[in-house]
Amino acid sequence: MTRSLENKVIIVTGAGGGIGRDSCRVLAAAGARLVVSDISEGAAQGTVDLLRADGHEAVLITADVGSEDSVQELVKGTIASYGRLDGAFNNAAIEQSNKPLADLTLAEWERVMRVDLTGVFLCMKHQIRAMLTSGGGAIVNTSSGAAQIAFPNGGEYVTAKAGVLGLTRSAAVDYGARGIRVNAILPGVIRTPMIARLSEDPAFAAMFDRSRQRHIVGRFGEPSEIGEAAKWLLSDASSFVQGAAISVDGGFLAN
Ligand SMILES: NC(=O)c1ccc[n+]([C@@H]2O[C@H](COP(=O)([O-])OP(=O)(O)OC[C@H]3O[C@@H](n4cnc5c(N)ncnc54)[C@H](O)[C@@H]3O)[C@@H](O)[C@H]2O)c1
Repeated sequence: MTRSLENKVIIVTGAGGGIGRDSCRVLAAAGARLVVSDISEGAAQGTVDLLRADGHEAVLITADVGSEDSVQELVKGTIASYGRLDGAFNNAAIEQSNKPLADLTLAEWERVMRVDLTGVFLCMKHQIRAMLTSGGGAIVNTSSGAAQIAFPNGGEYVTAKAGVLGLTRSAAVDYGARGIRVNAILPGVIRTPMIARLSEDPAFAAMFDRSRQRHIVGRFGEPSEIGEAAKWLLSDASSFVQGAAISVDGGFLAN
């Protein structure tokens, strides 16, 4: 049986942990030839080691998605390794400073915007250029349920994730006719290191507890469940899905 991503060359950012790491395992099992990328070389190496233990090969390229030079090197390195680029899962992001808007410094605002929004712009910019030379491709951006519903003290994150939806639609409109599909995933609460860090704040821990009830399936998600959605969106099985924002959230946004 042909695997849905057989031989497709795919970059995953934020691949050193959480959703990115487990998604790499899902994508590799579907036949993808992966570029595992993260700002942390050690974290990315941990993912590559797991992939190798599963019997998959992967290329590691360290990159800060908030730096254009770094993103350019990531795409260049991908082409140098594999000769083409077919897909990208732009998943890297950082969490907010947990302050109400009027207490947020400009530096704190810009820190999150740089990685969570500008990072997606820079990745798409250079990925799209590479994809256009190899006849098209598919891009999946990780937004968040927080793009649709704000939570307390998360203004810069909520805004960046809403911006990712705008960028996703804009790229779909600009490049859809040239064979590039661009879609976004809106995860609910997924058990990752990011959520563990946020839960150290008792107010966040209490909010997560309350939000569990809004996840209609009665639990938080696993990183691989986002990977399964990314796999479908990166594959030709989703060929008629374009510019979409897909909730993968156990029903969080449905109630
Ligand atoms: N976990 C959730 O509940 C949840 C919910 C909605 C959306 N998301 C989104 O899912 C994505 C993954 O989140 P996660 O929970 O796995 O986070 P995580 O913190 O567990 O993992 C994020 C990874 O991104 C890397 N990273 C951070 N800054 C980077 C940069 N500048 N360049 C490249 N890599 C960088 C980190 O080193 C880390 O390995 C993010 O976009 C996040 O906003 C997560």
